[in-house]
Amino acid sequence: MLKKILFCGAIIFCFVSSSFAQDLSTIKLPPPDLKGGKSLMQSLQERKTSRLFSTQKLPIEVLSNLLWAACGINRPDSGKRTAPSARNWQEIDVYVAMKEGLYLYNAKTHTIEPVLKRDLRKNTTTFLQPSRIQVANAPVQLIYVADYSKMGFGADEEDKIIYSAADAGTIAQNVYLYCASEGLATGVRGMVDKDALAKEMKLSDKQKIVLVQAVGYPQ
Ligand SMILES: Cc1cc2nc3c(=O)[nH]c(=O)nc-3n(C[C@H](O)[C@H](O)[C@H](O)COP(=O)(O)O)c2cc1C
Repeated sequence: MLKKILFCGAIIFCFVSSSFAQDLSTIKLPPPDLKGGKSLMQSLQERKTSRLFSTQKLPIEVLSNLLWAACGINRPDSGKRTAPSARNWQEIDVYVAMKEGLYLYNAKTHTIEPVLKRDLRKNTTTFLQPSRIQVANAPVQLIYVADYSKMGFGADEEDKIIYSAADAGTIAQNVYLYCASEGLATGVRGMVDKDALAKEMKLSDKQKIVLVQAVGYPQ
């Protein structure tokens, strides 16, 4: 009996510990390639929402370009980004959900840092989303999370909701344009079970999920 209990305990321990982020490591992204892609006008012409994705993974060079285009630092002197943000709060954190786990983009170091060793891509969809199964196929789900603690003095709750939605929207559009310029498929979604996803991501009550955006190759 004791053996059985110890055996079950060991299995539970392995299961629980395997979901901790320490098993993943920080990934240093290569510098973004600033020369590639179609012209801005061509990219605008081709921008669209896709809901069908191949399961093919994105190479690290593409992930690097994608995250830099989303909200990477384009002026190192000031630390300002490719996307504008209200009062330069830079309150939108970009989480990257992939098969191997959940990461957080660090624009300063151009790295992705491990958060959870779990595949949360399916948790970014909801039964209300008719194309949820195809959308969950995408190798990358970008989760835009507003950190209200970065939105300084003078902003009331309504300001925080409006500004963070606008700021996430500009990041989403950067991603749309980058994807159009590279022939990638993407689609932003507001229809997400945000409370359930926030719980899975272990977010604090100051962190609010605004939008999720799938990125991958077209199917
Ligand atoms: C803020 C926002 C939320 C959206 N939420 C969803 C969503 O939950 N599910 C979805 O399939 N598409 C979603 N979309 C995509 C829109 O349906 C899409 O942009 C619209 O149909 C126009 O298509 P287009 O992007 O190809 O021009 C969202 C778009 C925006 C800007």
